[in-house]
Parts: sequence; structure tokens; C-alpha cells
Amino acid sequence: MVFIVVGTQWGDEGKGKIIDLLTDRADMIVRYQGGNNAGHTVVVDGEEIILHLIPSGILHSEKHCVIGSGVVINPEALQSEIEFLEKKGISVDGRFYISQNAHIITPYHIQLDVIKEEFLGKESIGTTKRGVGLAYTDKMARIGIRVVDLLEDKDELREKLSHSLFEKNCLLKNAYGQEEGFDPGRIEKDLLAYTDLIDKYVADTSVIINQAIDAGKTVLFEGAQGTLLDIDYGTYPYVTSSNPIAGGACVGAGVGPTKIDSVLGVTKAYTTRVGNGPFPTEMCQYHSEEVRIKGREYGATTGRPRRCGWLDIVAVRYAVRLNGLKALIITKLDVLNDLDKILVCTGYQYKGELITEFPQSQKILKECKPVYEELPGWQEEISHLKAYAQLPSKAKAYLERIKELLQIEIAIVSVGTERNQSIILDERLLP
Ligand code: IMP
Repeated sequence: MVFIVVGTQWGDEGKGKIIDLLTDRADMIVRYQGGNNAGHTVVVDGEEIILHLIPSGILHSEKHCVIGSGVVINPEALQSEIEFLEKKGISVDGRFYISQNAHIITPYHIQLDVIKEEFLGKESIGTTKRGVGLAYTDKMARIGIRVVDLLEDKDELREKLSHSLFEKNCLLKNAYGQEEGFDPGRIEKDLLAYTDLIDKYVADTSVIINQAIDAGKTVLFEGAQGTLLDIDYGTYPYVTSSNPIAGGACVGAGVGPTKIDSVLGVTKAYTTRVGNGPFPTEMCQYHSEEVRIKGREYGATTGRPRRCGWLDIVAVRYAVRLNGLKALIITKLDVLNDLDKILVCTGYQYKGELITEFPQSQKILKECKPVYEELPGWQEEISHLKAYAQLPSKAKAYLERIKELLQIEIAIVSVGTERNQSIILDERLLP
């Protein structure tokens, strides 16, 4: 079975825990886009583990994990993540592979990301400042450095770096007023320090993944970020620079669409977003603060407080369509335990008209007003519950309403951070 798991909102839906849970049923876990801008949080035996680059499936000793060609790799981040895992007694050797085609995030991408964000000030995207967007920019401009470049001819690498840095140094000098540019020799030295590491794990990952699929293994593709951060379909320009949507899995992993059996969407019981950009269902400060504290809504990568909002059905309906979702996985339902009423956005009002499909115009998205349905809160602890039938009737009513509005089944409801705080509603929808 081949499954793609994607986020249906602006990322941070709790995918880390869900992928970790589903990893039990998988043989191989593949990341297909993004970089160490992601942060997948997993709680194992009360200990919180955050992985930014390596699939969280690596925490399960017998599983194979792959970083596909659609990912951008910061070698320093990769090394420290491997060391972090090794310190925990988790060895990645023999079961971890990185694509030779994946692009490298270099020190100049990171520095430029920081400079650019600061330069733009209030107009900035609010990136994670990890150089991710800049590495993808070079990839598209065909001046990127790939994993394979670190392993082949050194003169060619130096040439590629000089070529790539020429424009950047002009930009640094003329736009940002910096006298000193990036030095290709220095960057080359920095990058070549990671050749042994890269050499150990590099592979033709498309071959490895397809062989696993053909051998009947269960392969799980994990999306980082979320649908609304997709470069093509998200709230552009306030998006990441890759395709987190399910379609991105085929491109980013080198697998044909006919090989995919199902797509599951992870939806938080409310909405959050980090960084700037329109957010129609953003809560008032009072509720936002309450949800942020209870849900520990702080960026796993940057520590920034996340903006919190009510569940936006218009946005999730869009994600259902774009990803061709077979089922939803609802996370963090327990965060809403204390609320006396819960709002669900069923549409947007714009210039007297009701909109139910997610607008492609950012102007509309900025100016529309959410139309809310009010549901009663259950005001009970639910984190210890193990079966759907045990949930308070008002919590069940909330879930049923989501299903009804979206016309989609719910496969799992997560009621806490631990692996075992997950209620499975329908086994048939899972790997
Ligand atoms: P970048 O991906 O660092 O370039 O940031 C672009 C936008 O995507 C910013 O608004 C970030 O806050 C957002 N972003 C990137 N990664 C994540 C994530 O893992 N969760 C939530 N937002 C993210």
C-alpha cells in the first residue's frame, strides 16, 4: 500500500505524531519536499522529539527512511540531526537514503534569507530564515548545487559556485549595500566538509522507493508544511517554496501517480498559521491566547507564537479537493476541551455574496468575513478516551458536523500528544 499524508491547513496540523503512529504500519517513509523549515514533533514516553529534516519514521528502528529529490538539504542540519539521533541510541545506518538530485541549502542561502526578510521589514513573508526559499529559487534558476555536486569533480563545483554567486554578490553590493560578497572558495570548503556524510547516505532514491512499492511494501509519503503553504495553490506569496500537496509527492520522490493508493489529510480541530498573510478565521486575542497556551502553539522550528483561529471549512474543503483526500485525521481535539462554544467557518461573505470555495484572489481572502456556525463546547477532559463511543456527545457532534460539511470520512481523532492518545474510527481507511 502506498499512502500520502498531507497537512490540510497552514502546516503544524500535528502531522509528526500521525506519521509516527502510521509508521507502525509502514516499511518505508519518504519526505518529498521542503527542508529544515519543517518541524515534526513526536512525543515518545513523555519525551518530546522534534525532527526538522529526517522523517520521524526513523525513530522506529526497523523502518527505512528516504529524503527525495524534491527536498532541499542543509548538510549541517542533516549532520546534527543524525548526531542527535545517535545520542539517543538510534542509528540511521543502512536504512536512511538521500537523493543525489536533492538541492543543497548553502550558507549563502541562509544569509540571504535573513538579509532579505530584514530588508523587507513589514512586507516580509515571515520565513523560517532557513534559506529554503532561496535554495529553491536557485534550483528553478538552474544555478543550484545538488547533492551529487558535492561528490563529483571539485573544479566543476567551484565553477558552479562562482556562477551561482556572481549575481548574489552584485545584489549584496548594490541592493543591500554590503561591501563584502560571498567567497566561492570558502563556501566550497564549508560544503566539502560534508562529503563523507553525504556519501554515506546518497542513493538513487527513486529506484529504492519504486523497488519497495513493487515488492509490495507499505510506503508512506509525508508532506511537510501544509496545503495552504503550497507554492502553486497556497496563499501566495505567503507560502513556502515547494509543493506540500499530494501531487508534489510524485514529483519530489520520483514515483508515478498510478502507484499511489490513498491520500490522507491531517486537519487540526482549529486553525493556526505562522508568518504573515491573510487568515480569515483568526480568533480574537482572548481565545487565541487560550488555544495557544493549551495547544502549545509555538513554531517547532522558530519558536514563534502561532496565530490561532477557528476551523475553516472553506479552506479544508479546498484541501480535500486539491489533494484528492480519501479521509481526514483530526488532531488536537482535546485543545478545545475548555471552550464553552466552538465556531466553525462554513463560508465567507464578500461584498454581499457568500463564498464557499476557497478564493484564489488574495484580495478577497484578505477582505472577506467568515460566516460562522456556533456549536456548544463539551467542557470535559477527553485525552484519556480510547473509543469514539466514549467521546462526549457534543464532541461527537462537532466531528459529525465536520464530516457533513466536507462530505468526507474521519479515520483517526487525536486527543493528546502521545502515540496512544489516538482514537481510530475506521481501520479500512488506513494503511
Ligand atoms: P520558508 O518556508 O522558511 O521560506 O517560509 C515561508 C512561509 O512558510 C512562512 O510563512 C513560514 O512561516 C511558513 N512555514 C514554513 N515551514 C513551515 C512549517 O513547517 N509550519 C508552518 N509554517 C511554515
